[in-house]
Amino acid sequence: MDSLHVLDHPLIQNKLTLMRNKRTSNHNFRLLLEELTALMVYEITRNYPLKEVETETPLEWTQGKVLETDVVLVSILRAGSGMLHSVLSLIPQAKVGHIGIYREPDSLMPVEYYSKLPAGLPRAQIIVVDPMLATGRSAVAGIDLIKEAGGKTIQFLCLVASPAGIETFTTTHGDVPIYTAAIDRELDGRGYILPGLGDAGDRIFGT
Ligand code: URA
Repeated sequence: MDSLHVLDHPLIQNKLTLMRNKRTSNHNFRLLLEELTALMVYEITRNYPLKEVETETPLEWTQGKVLETDVVLVSILRAGSGMLHSVLSLIPQAKVGHIGIYREPDSLMPVEYYSKLPAGLPRAQIIVVDPMLATGRSAVAGIDLIKEAGGKTIQFLCLVASPAGIETFTTTHGDVPIYTAAIDRELDGRGYILPGLGDAGDRIFGT
């Protein structure tokens, strides 16, 4: 599948394994999430277009290159927030949107409670971040909102994806590539990914 990319760089896999360990503290989990996100962003931005600019070194003028496109990050609350800082440290000029969606515990259906997206989505390169692609319904609902607001060029970045989540996502948004560090075995009855890494939000925020 063209739109599914498993980022299997050894450093990414190493950090993911540390994050899976239930004995990893909230503090270390957050740090690892930031490091892993940075490594993944490095991979997924490698084809971003550049434009030439003039820049003055301490010695003379020269040609340099900078990112040509505006970048917008969209965090799916709340676990996506744990990935934001890391992307922003690499792309500080990026604008940030937030989409609040929670899973109704019985039906596992997504309920949207917040959406704030920056202007300029139609021309922007958009990176949507959410550590877990579980049922895929929140991600689909989030991308729906982004497309309704004019978003066109979108990448979805997660750490762990389930086969069912990938299926749901690609059926609806086959034009949006998924970048993940792992595809895990299955979902349990509560919609958690197995073996997974637990509740990413709880592990980031210590709730
Ligand atoms: N969200 C999580 O944080 N973990 C899962 O396993 C599934 C959804």
